[in-house]
Amino acid sequence: MNLNIGIIGTGWFSKVHGDILAGMDGVRVTAVSGTSLPKAESLAARYPGARGFATLTEMLDSGKLDAVYICVPPMAHGDIEAELIDRAIPFLVEKPLGAELDVPLGILSRLEKKPLIHAVGYHFRYKATIQKLKETLEGATLGMALGSWMGDMPQVSWWRRQEGSGGQFIEQTTHIVDLLRYTAGEVQEVYATYANRVVHNQFENVNVADVGTVTLKLQSGAIANISNTCILPGGVGKSGLSLYTDEGILDWNPDRLEIARAGEKSSYTINDNPYVKENEAFIHALRTGDTSAILSDYADAVKTQRVTWAAFESASSGKPVKIGN
Ligand SMILES: NC(=O)c1ccc[n+]([C@@H]2O[C@H](COP(=O)([O-])OP(=O)(O)OC[C@H]3O[C@@H](n4cnc5c(N)ncnc54)[C@H](O)[C@@H]3O)[C@@H](O)[C@H]2O)c1
Repeated sequence: MNLNIGIIGTGWFSKVHGDILAGMDGVRVTAVSGTSLPKAESLAARYPGARGFATLTEMLDSGKLDAVYICVPPMAHGDIEAELIDRAIPFLVEKPLGAELDVPLGILSRLEKKPLIHAVGYHFRYKATIQKLKETLEGATLGMALGSWMGDMPQVSWWRRQEGSGGQFIEQTTHIVDLLRYTAGEVQEVYATYANRVVHNQFENVNVADVGTVTLKLQSGAIANISNTCILPGGVGKSGLSLYTDEGILDWNPDRLEIARAGEKSSYTINDNPYVKENEAFIHALRTGDTSAILSDYADAVKTQRVTWAAFESASSGKPVKIGN
């Protein structure tokens, strides 16, 4: 079955998804929309036969799309998903679900009333090393986890505004929070401290924190800390998640997994592309209705958003915040 896909957003990540889709058998990117017609036409020109549109509504009115990829900044979510749900058009939405929590909760409630095939772009779940980590963790008792996302500040203007991106913990470190939930279970409570150290002196109009550390209590009784910074120079960064159990250390980063047990150490470097797997799972679901290969859905991603939003609330109030349902 041939599939026609539309993309909303004309930035970096629209291109990443568009190129993967364009390389898949029987899948065509046929329509692109964004914040202006010229930008939409410019991205559309990359895909043979694709047209650019000034608005999502014009794009959806122009002809049948089998699905839409939503690759817009956090603050731009809400109306897009609502329109797609109203028209019963499946979508893959990039993380995070929003810059705060209310918009994602509203979309979740619409989806519950009118379910359709969808996926969320928490792509690390598709890494073979994460699946290996999950398997290895089975049967062990997790004591604590330490995670991090340490890097430089993305140069897009929306990123430096709290109301635009939600800040680093909501926008980027959400990947590590999501992996913690995916591998170690749900979070019960968070306590966060954030500060502004450097980037507000380097760039205009910055109101996001540039360092932060978040302590998390898990429902299992395990504890965790996930910290982040965006003050580093470009090209100097690291991120990952380490789990400390009664059997040893599971130390993961996007490039490899190291497992250390008493007298034994193994390292796994599997060069799979999780974005390709994520897209294959979604396209398979569109073709067959079988969603079992999709590893992140909206309801689950809202749980990650609850944690990252609670961290922001805690950093703002100076008090621990319990995670709601
Ligand atoms: N999963 C991942 O690894 C990964 C990697 C990069 C980006 N992302 C996510 O993808 C999203 C987009 O990131 P990006 O790097 O492409 O950003 P970008 O700034 O390069 O592009 C964003 C695009 O959205 C468009 N846009 C903004 N508001 C809009 C609106 N209301 N309606 C339609 N279009 C609108 C902009 O014109 C721009 O074309 C972000 O949420 C980001 O977190 C995910």
